[in-house]
Order: sequence, then C-alpha cells, then structure tokens
Amino acid sequence: MDVNGAAAIISGGASGLGEATARELAAHGMTVVIADLNEERGKAIADEIGGVFVKTDVSDEEQVQVAVDAAVATGKPLRVVVNSAGIGWAERTVNREGQPHSLASFRKVIDVNLIGTFNLMRIAAAAIAKTEPVSEDGHRGVVVNTASVAALEGQTGQLAYSASKGGIVGMTVPAARDLSAIGVRVNTICPGIIDTPIYGFSPNAEEFKAKLVAPVVFPKRMGRPDEFAHLVRMLIENDYMNAEVIRFDGGIRFQPK
Ligand SMILES: NC(=O)c1ccc[n+]([C@@H]2O[C@H](COP(=O)([O-])OP(=O)(O)OC[C@H]3O[C@@H](n4cnc5c(N)ncnc54)[C@H](O)[C@@H]3O)[C@@H](O)[C@H]2O)c1
Repeated sequence: MDVNGAAAIISGGASGLGEATARELAAHGMTVVIADLNEERGKAIADEIGGVFVKTDVSDEEQVQVAVDAAVATGKPLRVVVNSAGIGWAERTVNREGQPHSLASFRKVIDVNLIGTFNLMRIAAAAIAKTEPVSEDGHRGVVVNTASVAALEGQTGQLAYSASKGGIVGMTVPAARDLSAIGVRVNTICPGIIDTPIYGFSPNAEEFKAKLVAPVVFPKRMGRPDEFAHLVRMLIENDYMNAEVIRFDGGIRFQPK
C-alpha cells in the first residue's frame, strides 16, 4: 500500500519507536496523528513533521475516539494504525520478602499495553472501514502492533509485561481474520533491545543496557528506532504481509535473568 497522501495514527508517537515511526511515515508523505500522554514532546514532534497531536490515554475509550476523529478530520484517508504506546514493569510473582505481585500493577500494565492496543485498533479500524479501497484486492489499511520478545521468553519479574505483550501476539491472527472483511491487514512486531528513552538516561541505565546487549547475536549492539520505523513502513507497503508476528531483535534469545 502506498503511504503517500494518507493519514496514520500512532500511539506512543511522542517518544522512542513511535516517534521514529511518526518521522519515517511523515517523510514518506503521510499526515501523522500522534496519540500520546506526553503533551510537550508530542506537540513538538507533530509540529516538526506537519502532523497533529492529540493528548490520549490509549486505555480510555473516549480519548481514543477523539484521536481517531482527529485523524479523520485531517481530510486524508486514514489507512495506518501503529500501536507503540507502552509501559514496562518489573515485579516477581512472589518477591524475596514472600509478598505476592501487586494485582493493581498487573492490571495497569494489561490496561495500557494490551487493552490500549486493542482499543485503538478497534476504533481506528472502524474509521478505516468507511474509506474507499485503494487496490483491486480491496485494501483499505494496515495495523502494526508492537509486542516484545518478552511475549515469547519473558525474564524473571517480567510477568505482567510479558502477559500484556503475549496478549498482543495472540490477537494478531484473529484480528487479521476479522479485519480482512474490511480490507485491513494486521501484523505485530516483537522488538528485542532497542535504544529508546524507555531505559532512562541515568548512569545505571547505561550499565543496564550494556548488560542487555551481551546476548545479542549480530549486529552486537542495541537496535535503533529508525530501523524499527523502516520495518513498520515495509509492513505497510508490502501488501502480502498479513497476520504475521515478526521478531526484530538481532537474534537475541532472552535468558531467565
Ligand atoms: N525499546 C525497547 O527495547 C522495546 C523492546 C520491546 C518492546 N518495546 C515496546 O515498544 C513500545 C514503544 O517503546 P519505546 O521503547 O519507544 O518506549 P518510550 O517510553 O520511549 O515510548 C513510549 C511512549 O508511550 C507513551 N505512553 C505510555 N503510556 C501511555 C498511555 N496510557 N497512553 C498513551 N501513550 C502512552 C509514553 O508517553 C511514551 O511517549 C512499547 O510498547 C514497548 O513496550 C520496546
């Protein structure tokens, strides 16, 4: 599908992988709506790329509807949804003091990462369904969701995060089947270790990142957000990519810790 001249909505577009994707798609002619909680960064990036920012909590129905309405209001046909909003969490099922994992923190991670992804996908897909098809095949649009390799081999203390990302992986095939009725493809990317603000900027963060890189096979470094954004564009542009879960990880396989 040609991205030029169409609109995209990107959750988490104010930072990291979502930001890089917003820049990539705008550079290839898309009008981008950034749906994110971070107003300052979101607005600044939207201004830079000629897009629109809408302050959005992806887990909130009304706020996501407002963001999708803003994408429709750009006057360009909404064709692309990229779910990149997400939060990390580290807590053991039973901690060293013998206390069980907090239920509230588990719910919060599921709410943002999994329910937030579903929420934007469903509301944006309903808007895409109202557009004219762009190909003889009846294509109308593409959804790209962001899970994690932690969905497949979560480490110690990643239970909530892995459950949320595993849910995104699990939704991929049924979502692609459901949305085929309206000409929408769905793919999910599972990133490994990509250098974004999610790891923070403290000296500890640098140490932590160096440790994470050790099991990467090749190239022996963290991934770059622009490499992720390139993959998103490939998944949008290649019409035969559908219902796929793609590892994007330099060959890393997580160890228990
Ligand atoms: N960076 C990595 O190594 C890595 C690896 C695997 C998966 N991921 C996933 O990729 C996605 C993007 O991660 P990133 O590294 O770019 O992180 P990031 O922290 O740089 O960006 C995440 C963005 O999501 C936004 N956000 C958080 N909660 C939100 C909510 N409720 N509603 C709307 N926006 C919200 C934040 O404001 C932020 O702008 C996440 O889902 C993350 O879990 C990242």
